[in-house]
Amino acid sequence: MAYDPTSLSWEGRFPKNEIISLLDVNRPFNLAESTAKDLSFGELLDLVGLDSLRDLKLGYGSSAGLPALRAAVAGICGVAPEAVISTQGTALGLFLLAFELCRPGDEVVIATPCFPPSRDALVGCGVALREVAQRFDEGYRLDLVHMAKALTPGTRMVSVGSPGNPNGVRLSEGTLRELLNLMAERSPRAFLFVDETYREATYGGPTPASAAVLDPRVIVGGSVSKAHGAPGLRVGWLIVSDPTLRERLTVAKMNVVISGSPLDEALAAGLLSRHESVLAPRRAMLAEALGILGRWQAGESARLDWVRPDGGALCCLRLRPDCFDDVAVARFWAALPGHDLQLAPGAWFGEEERIFRLGFGYLPIGGLTEALAALTRAMNAVLDNDSEP
Ligand SMILES: Cc1ncc(COP(=O)(O)O)c(C=O)c1O
Repeated sequence: MAYDPTSLSWEGRFPKNEIISLLDVNRPFNLAESTAKDLSFGELLDLVGLDSLRDLKLGYGSSAGLPALRAAVAGICGVAPEAVISTQGTALGLFLLAFELCRPGDEVVIATPCFPPSRDALVGCGVALREVAQRFDEGYRLDLVHMAKALTPGTRMVSVGSPGNPNGVRLSEGTLRELLNLMAERSPRAFLFVDETYREATYGGPTPASAAVLDPRVIVGGSVSKAHGAPGLRVGWLIVSDPTLRERLTVAKMNVVISGSPLDEALAAGLLSRHESVLAPRRAMLAEALGILGRWQAGESARLDWVRPDGGALCCLRLRPDCFDDVAVARFWAALPGHDLQLAPGAWFGEEERIFRLGFGYLPIGGLTEALAALTRAMNAVLDNDSEP
């Protein structure tokens, strides 16, 4: 199931990771998705207005992105519009950083578990990775002691996510500042990349400020994919203070995709400039869904541990070793399709097999409740089966 680095049959430049199946498999009880409910095109058109798009010319876009989009992102993140480069999702930003900021053999320190392409884009570009594991048992707090040990004068980039995928754990401003101080001491050439793809997916509380305002060495990535529910627009951004690096990344983007789609960027700009009306009901729904999940987990706490997320529509749970031995864990994964269930295995993100990512924002509330009941039935079936001679 997970990528096997010892496999000789895979000749791809990027490691093969079964997370790709999320694009093609969608079972009725889909608890594998990381997004909030998909926004429909009709909802978006109602927000943006068709008339505002009629005269849009479908030529190439501009190299750094549509000015209205850059201005909208800048306003939301508290930076200058010139600092923003549009990308096709945060995903393109991950690739551009791996390919252009880094050179083969450069060192990058990355906090794991993480979104597979955050790591695999670096592997594909020949970067020397230093992975610093955050632990389920420590609530996935960033381990600054281990981070410090991994930093060297050769470190070119440090990569973290906030909130992280798969766990939804946010990094506080204090932690990011401590990390920047460590980098200043040990890795003066390094930039800090903070993946903020889930930043605005809160549960109703205030949205933490973007890390882009903390320091010129910070590069931020984000998109309309998660909190806004519009991953199909394929619109994201990088925020880069350093003008030289920004120009390099813009030239790299031109060489890979020429420009973003003006239509997608105009729709995303319209969405972002009115986004509170989209985010508010989604945040209320996430809060309700998290409440349901928390109560369900409390009832399942003899069999499942969890790390409560700080943001995003996703979190990590663990099949307790005192209930599920390794054979039962394998049976659990095998049982899911029969229960119409879909979960994201921890192994995709560099975690143990017994840990899984559960997405609680994708299904409507009624569907979530039914899916959690199906998960209870699946665990019952696995453990009943286990107790048979
Ligand atoms: C942490 C993180 N970064 C980046 C991405 C890429 O998303 P997109 O390219 O749609 O913005 C994802 C998607 O799951 C993610 O979880």
